[in-house]
Amino acid sequence: MLKFQKNIVLIGMMGSGKSMVAKALARKLKMPRLSTDELIEKKAKLRIKDLVAQKGWEYFRALEHKIVVQVSGKKGIIIDCGGGVVMDPENLSALKANGIVFFLNARPAVIYQRVKNDPSRPLVDVPNPLAQIRRIYKQRLPLYNQAHYAIDASGVSIEGPVAQILARVIQS
Ligand code: S3P
Repeated sequence: MLKFQKNIVLIGMMGSGKSMVAKALARKLKMPRLSTDELIEKKAKLRIKDLVAQKGWEYFRALEHKIVVQVSGKKGIIIDCGGGVVMDPENLSALKANGIVFFLNARPAVIYQRVKNDPSRPLVDVPNPLAQIRRIYKQRLPLYNQAHYAIDASGVSIEGPVAQILARVIQS
């Protein structure tokens, strides 16, 4: 059985399939998985939507940074990151120091279809969510592209992205 010392890190917009891909990789590689969003919710004892509503984005991002530093210090885990993790360059440096970073790249129109009926996402709880997704995607694309690898995640199934990531990991 292959045993990876490095972490496998997934970044990308909401709705790009990070959580499902992370779960599939964890099963296949028998590696533990951590989600920064889940850890934030656990620490704050609040759902992200409520945390942002009560304490604001700045508080959320500061907590996210603390969690990222903690999980980046681990070895041999799969890290499923919240979509905005790249907004702080220190987060990406920490994640890259001990991990192979994969950007799951899904087109804004695809993301919109996947998240439009999900009331738990504060970022798209706005009058024109598609325009908002396009704007955020454009703003963050150069940051996401700092990942080691970009993986096309616009397709309907997660099998393609999972297979591509496995191939890269096995080569490394
Ligand atoms: C965010 C994405 C969310 C969550 C928060 C902010 C973002 O995570 O961290 O709502 O800024 O893109 P997912 O990408 O897991 O939905």
